[in-house]
Amino acid sequence: MKHVLSAAVAVVLCGPTLAAPTAIIHPGETWPDDRGLHIQAHGGGILKLGETWFWFGEDRSQGLDPAKRYVACYSSKDLANWTFRGHPIELADPENFGPRWVLERPKVFHNAKTGKFVMYMHIDGNTAEGSYKIARVGVAVSDRVEGGYRYLGSFRPLGHESRDLGQFVDDDGAAYLIFEDRPFGFRIARLSDDYLSVKKEICLIPAHMEGGAIVHFQGLYYVIGSALTGWTPNPNKYATARSLEGPWSEFRDLAPPETKTYGSQSTMLLKVVGSRKTSIIFMGDIWKPRTQWDSRYLWMPIEIGDGKMWLPEPKPWAVDVATGEVAIQR
Ligand code: GAL
Repeated sequence: MKHVLSAAVAVVLCGPTLAAPTAIIHPGETWPDDRGLHIQAHGGGILKLGETWFWFGEDRSQGLDPAKRYVACYSSKDLANWTFRGHPIELADPENFGPRWVLERPKVFHNAKTGKFVMYMHIDGNTAEGSYKIARVGVAVSDRVEGGYRYLGSFRPLGHESRDLGQFVDDDGAAYLIFEDRPFGFRIARLSDDYLSVKKEICLIPAHMEGGAIVHFQGLYYVIGSALTGWTPNPNKYATARSLEGPWSEFRDLAPPETKTYGSQSTMLLKVVGSRKTSIIFMGDIWKPRTQWDSRYLWMPIEIGDGKMWLPEPKPWAVDVATGEVAIQR
């Protein structure tokens, strides 16, 4: 299969005539959905249901109602071709945080016990008194994966400030929120049984990082995050631990630091478990603050194992979701 994938990548790159459906991912380029429109799932997260992946993220399209914030949802069977599934939630300042209120980094969990889909998002304000001072998580719930989600409100998880958030579901099904608590660092907390609240802190990693993501791979937990430089990229880093509680290793570079994570910021680590291999995909955002609708995605299979992690130089690549194998253009 490796051969077929390599051939597919090579063919697609060598000539535009390839007719067969290929699943080539082009990091950093525009990524058209089934309608031919650039995917709007910034600061996103992925949920897998059966054989289908659902990608949720911020819709920053031009021409949307400026009073509202929109989350978009896409589905895919191969991680490369995505079908727009609408807006699971669109909200007009549900808690009077002002016209420049913020909804960022939506992440959806599926609760097997209740059958509900639960969305966590960063909810904040942006006023003359200051921006990003509210620092809460918002929660919304739905019976269907693509919504509509009912907004339940916002809170500070376990009383702490929470800005960028990430999601992690362990191999045993336990669901965790990763959130940035500005005065202290990175927190990992377990969700309640119904996922509607944040129940218990598992760890505070005293590092000032955001864009947090975790993966559990071959008995080790790997956490990644970026420095706090807003939309500007910086060298993202990783640390490892045998248990989510820690102790965590020192943070190390994920990519050559001078590339600033190849211009991207982490949002998730996606585990693709195939019949032959488990591949981990780094999902990052290449933000374009002045033309946010044109912000790009940097997805790459990450090199991982024995406590090390490395983001290779972005190049077109393909994944076979059945076997888990990936091929990167040479
Ligand atoms: C980044 C953060 C983004 C967004 C941005 C606003 O640090 O990761 O999600 O909040 O700041 O400046």
